[in-house]
Amino acid sequence: MTHRVGILTGGGDCPGLNAVIRAVVRKAIRHDWEVAGVLEGWRGMLEGKWHMLDLEKVRGILPQGGTILRTSRTNPTKHADGLDRIKAHYKEMGLSALIAVGGDDTQSVAARLQDAGLNLVGVPKTIDNDLSGTDYTFGFDTAVNIATEAIDRVHTTAEAHNRVMVVEVMGRDTGWIAVASGVAGGADMILIPEKPIDLDQVSQALQRRVDRGRTFSIVVVAEGAKMPEGSEQREVLQSLKKDEFGHVQHGGIGSILAREIEHRTGLETRVVILGHIQRGGSPTAFDRILATRFGVRAMELVLRGEFGKMVALRGIDIVSVPFSEALVSRKVDEALYAVAETFFG
Ligand code: F6P
Repeated sequence: MTHRVGILTGGGDCPGLNAVIRAVVRKAIRHDWEVAGVLEGWRGMLEGKWHMLDLEKVRGILPQGGTILRTSRTNPTKHADGLDRIKAHYKEMGLSALIAVGGDDTQSVAARLQDAGLNLVGVPKTIDNDLSGTDYTFGFDTAVNIATEAIDRVHTTAEAHNRVMVVEVMGRDTGWIAVASGVAGGADMILIPEKPIDLDQVSQALQRRVDRGRTFSIVVVAEGAKMPEGSEQREVLQSLKKDEFGHVQHGGIGSILAREIEHRTGLETRVVILGHIQRGGSPTAFDRILATRFGVRAMELVLRGEFGKMVALRGIDIVSVPFSEALVSRKVDEALYAVAETFFG
């Protein structure tokens, strides 16, 4: 009897999703398994939206951004009988297992379904790199490369105009993208949610550069960073509306920061908000390789009947960890931030 595995991509899209889908399909077909592609993340499992995937459907998708299965931030636990509806569709689709590719939200639903008796395997993805259990998520390297290129470009215009340029990057409640791209791009200050912003310290650092004859500065700020207690506006949100997992929409702290910097230092300051550019387009070679390795290993777990686990990168090895290990938000590595601080001001 031919077995069938399902695959879905949930949460914000990220470069490398198609590489995982391709790897799962190629590995599955080699072992005579069929693959059902679930559309739009958990929404597809709730509503029974899916189609079969074959070699033709995954041809040429390795370098493509986005996801051929599309995605959503649907949380089945917030819908009436959500988990039961998914169980019914899982059965109807004839699945022996389901591979859920996503961040902590997607993995938390996968864990619930595993506990409810289905066979789940997780694949970690997010540009934010904030999942515990794995050293890196795919998508992060691409986002960091895009942000680094932006910082390089901003450098030349900052220098030409003797300006401070504030570059705001994504990352939600962690500063991984900010620290990595800031180090790679030679930022003079990096502000992240994990560390309270000290405006005096920021102004002094920028002033030190002026005193050394440097006529421009680059400040990288993570979207989730917060202004100090007592500030008129501590954080900036695009919208107060929460998604089904309870997340608000960040974006805009860079503008408040730029205003403060200009006010305190008298230095002309501009802001660039990178936004979704960091998530779009083709994955880097690193992300293509990581996503491919994750996809192949996820299918291997399915073939071995090892469920309730997420694939992960530890050092240079692909391993698997229980879902519970993946569900804790991972903050920026202190040692990496300490390296970044060496270059402040
Ligand atoms: O989690 C990935 C991420 O890009 C975050 O960095 C960002 O805060 C959020 O998603 C943006 O979400 P949306 O695409 O819903 O605006």
